[in-house]
Amino acid sequence: MNYKLLNIKTFGDNRGKLSVVEALRDIPFEIKRVYWIFDTLPDESRGFHAHKNMEQIIVAMDGACQFVLDDGKTREQVWLNRPDKALYIGKNMWREMKHFSYGCKLMILASDYYDEKEYIRDYNIFLKEVNK
Ligand code: TYD
Repeated sequence: MNYKLLNIKTFGDNRGKLSVVEALRDIPFEIKRVYWIFDTLPDESRGFHAHKNMEQIIVAMDGACQFVLDDGKTREQVWLNRPDKALYIGKNMWREMKHFSYGCKLMILASDYYDEKEYIRDYNIFLKEVNK
């Protein structure tokens, strides 16, 4: 499975906490794009795609949600629920995001610019791609 849960370097003191990632040091790619997901709803799932070439780091800045990760052979579930944990998802991983808490906010660091051609949005095509 091409994913990993990372503990983010965090500095805490009596003022609060600060977490940091540096490209090519704490995460394995240069960051070309940052986007965020907010105003989510518990019964609305998202994702349902894989990326042919893109890698991502996802952080739940607030709230929680469940990631379903699938490499075409096995399917695993991971909860993201802390801003000092990050989910790394590599190439060719099917992902679904479910069970968002109200007000969940996800920040995503991506290894490349947005390119719809690089998405696989059909699960059967994904299975064919990864199993060939
Ligand atoms: P979508 O892929 O449906 O989001 P999710 O992965 O959370 O299910 O993206 C929603 C819309 O936003 C879709 O029309 C594509 C657009 N979009 C961009 O234009 N640029 C981006 O960087 C991203 C991630 C999405």
